[in-house]
Amino acid sequence: MDQSENIDAVTIEELPSCVGQRVKIQGWVYNQRGSRTLTFLIVRDGTGIVQCVGNKEELDDDTWAQIQQLTQESSVSVIGTVSADDRQEGGVEVAIESFRLIALAEEYPITKKEHGIEFLMNNRHLWLRSRRTWAVLRIRNRVVMAIHEFFQSQGFIQLDSPIFTANAVEGTTTLFGTEFFGETAYLTQSGQLHGEAMAMAFGKIYTFGPTFRAEKSKTRRHLSEFWMIEPEMAFYDLDMDMALSEQFLAHVVGAVLSECSEELRVLGRDTAVLERVSPPFPRISYSEAVEILRSKETAQMVSEKLVELDTEAAALKIELVDGKRAHGQAKKGEKRRLDRRFAEINQRLGEIEEDQRNYPSWAESAANFEWGGDFGGSDETLLTWHYERPLIVHRFPAAIKAFYMKRDPDDDRVALGMDVLAPEGYGEIIGGGERATDLAFLKSQLAHHGLSEAAFDWYLDLRRYGSVPHAGFGLGLERIVAWICNLHHIREAIPFPRLMGRLTP
Ligand code: 4AD
Ligand code: MG
Repeated sequence: MDQSENIDAVTIEELPSCVGQRVKIQGWVYNQRGSRTLTFLIVRDGTGIVQCVGNKEELDDDTWAQIQQLTQESSVSVIGTVSADDRQEGGVEVAIESFRLIALAEEYPITKKEHGIEFLMNNRHLWLRSRRTWAVLRIRNRVVMAIHEFFQSQGFIQLDSPIFTANAVEGTTTLFGTEFFGETAYLTQSGQLHGEAMAMAFGKIYTFGPTFRAEKSKTRRHLSEFWMIEPEMAFYDLDMDMALSEQFLAHVVGAVLSECSEELRVLGRDTAVLERVSPPFPRISYSEAVEILRSKETAQMVSEKLVELDTEAAALKIELVDGKRAHGQAKKGEKRRLDRRFAEINQRLGEIEEDQRNYPSWAESAANFEWGGDFGGSDETLLTWHYERPLIVHRFPAAIKAFYMKRDPDDDRVALGMDVLAPEGYGEIIGGGERATDLAFLKSQLAHHGLSEAAFDWYLDLRRYGSVPHAGFGLGLERIVAWICNLHHIREAIPFPRLMGRLTP
């Protein structure tokens, strides 16, 4: 049979609805195994993975020989008949009738064996093809769609803010400077200030764009370039802002739960916490959060977590020893499964060791936390351990917040800001609050923060011409994806991460 015959290609995702039909699929060889007379070709095409079975008796010699020489990631086209098979991924299998090699791949650098994260990141352009990345980035796509669905259905207009900017938004220390036709310019840290102008023109808007932070911090939560979604609403106060963030997160998480079950399964994600994401979330003030950090309960919780880690590590080590013993006698397929599991275990053991080193100092800095300080990543993590759902912390000390925040009329020391912390230790995924509306107050804040009034004159116009109460927030796209997917590090939540020390590929 000839591959030039006129048969439309289908995607692997579509195969379950093609049972009994002859189809053509096009993709890349993910894996291959076989015997003298049978070959099992695992093909992926970006939409899914399917097993294609070739029988030596039924294929011409040329085709059979070609299949035998295939290498991982060679591109192929297969024509065959689809049959239902519950044991296979996707519930189907394809019996190969004809086969065409499109391009034979050179020896693929990423094998089924264990690779270090630096190696994988250096090969990110290829690593994208892996199963895990497939799941994470498809969830990212679903999150993006859900964000648009939510805001569009609530009467928001999507408008973008500029990326080249003349002024800082969140403080001047974290800007990437550049040159703009002879003028100094910065890559934007946040679209908020322009978002406020657009909210005064359109009522409810949201921006969706890349933002840049030059912080020289290497943490699991910081990227130098990340995508931020920033709704801004005229006539909203802090309470309305918090309520909106709750409904918004519930919608986004709900969409992933209902439509990405396969992706979540590939990631081995325990979805119990995600299923609890419904409004209202617990809300506590910064001052209450400080009390919690300093409490005996927090110290106790850290001790318990350390015990849990010890237990988990001990169980994994036993599994490793048993697995290594079984490896010798295991058949080829089982060996491969064990190798994959060893890689998982070793990675998890590394994470556990890191946590075991860190927790004691986290507990100590929490116990000594002074009112007025900014929460570090570890403080946020400890706070989230007290709750099984996202947590909102509001009313932060004004001194650690941006110039544009409105003061609490009941307590001038605090600003009407809020953060949403994701559970399971993830910490801040949303930051926002109510904006100051008073012209004289804003001018004094600019001076206090050492910002030039001239650079912000256009922003001050928003208070000169019909100033109204308004509020908004910013969601970090990669932060929410990392949490939903339960990733250890945010770098896996974006196709090509940019962070200190990583500018390629
Ligand atoms: O808390 P941030 O700095 O707030 C703002 O930029 C406000 N102007 C937003 C607003 O009110 N319109 O950042 C908002 C969110 C954080 O909660 C976090 O999710 C994400 O942006 N974020 C980062 N994500 C990845 N890497 C970084 N370096 C991030 N910095 C902030
Ligand atoms: Mg913040």
